[in-house]
Amino acid sequence: MEDYEVCTCNNINKSTIVKTILEKGLTTLEEVQNETTAGTICGACCDEIEAIIKEVNNS
Ligand code: FES
Repeated sequence: MEDYEVCTCNNINKSTIVKTILEKGLTTLEEVQNETTAGTICGACCDEIEAIIKEVNNS
């Protein structure tokens, strides 16, 4: 899987988000925000986080 920075506000990479989703069984944007802090500042990355949640939980 290609890694890149999803949340530039908090410097959170896709790999970190995917790992946290898998480890903790996250299914919602709010859970990912709480666990990683991604998406909690400007909100510009929230759509991308939602897409990652879907991708991980559908594979
Ligand atoms: S880029 Fe993620 S909160 Fe701003």
